[in-house]
Amino acid sequence: MRNKITIAIDGPAGSGKSSVSKIVAKRLGLLYIDTGAMYRALTLKAMKKGINLEEETALVELANNTKIELIHQKEGTVVLLDGQDVTDGIRETNVTNNVFYLARTEEVRECMKKLQRKIAEKGDVVMEGRDITTVILPDADYKFYLDASFEERVKRRRKELEQNGKQVAGSGLSKDIKIRDEKDFTRKIAPLRKAKYAIVIDSTGMSLEEEAATVISYIK
Ligand code: DC
Repeated sequence: MRNKITIAIDGPAGSGKSSVSKIVAKRLGLLYIDTGAMYRALTLKAMKKGINLEEETALVELANNTKIELIHQKEGTVVLLDGQDVTDGIRETNVTNNVFYLARTEEVRECMKKLQRKIAEKGDVVMEGRDITTVILPDADYKFYLDASFEERVKRRRKELEQNGKQVAGSGLSKDIKIRDEKDFTRKIAPLRKAKYAIVIDSTGMSLEEEAATVISYIK
């Protein structure tokens, strides 16, 4: 019997991280964990409850009293927020734009860290996010940092939104990604960083298939 493996993947918005992680998990028969979905689910709940997103204490209380589950089905992962399916709701633009409030709050991140480490404990997982290689699973068997040029990331995001039937305003998208990058790279707690010894893959000009194949080529 082979040993169980843990793969940690980080990268900025539009780096192909989620799609590549899904492909890798499927090919290798591992569990795929999207940690961004967890921050998104908390954000959706906070917004629905009308919580002031500037109020850290309220956000921490919310995080400590929320159940987030990722249910794996053949068609993909279903995200349950306190038992309710929010798989589509968490992808709305207003959630994307507000998620940084939860993501910058230290105690919220601590709460997510416990949940994420518990899920990864059993092994055979591909976990992706912004701080997986640096904070959550620094001892993962394989650590990857996926990157691509800014222009390429904007292009991919546009394609993804269009495929989902969403309207995309001209320069709005690049502005949104620039703002998200800035928040991800500069937040005080667990900013997005290339972890020591992480394998860096620049996928500019690569298809998702090629990017996934490159990741898999490093896994023995
Ligand atoms: O992966 P994503 O774009 O769905 O993530 C949404 C946001 O969640 C991202 O901009 C920052 C935050 N996030 C985080 O802070 N840490 C993670 N491990 C994953 C996501």
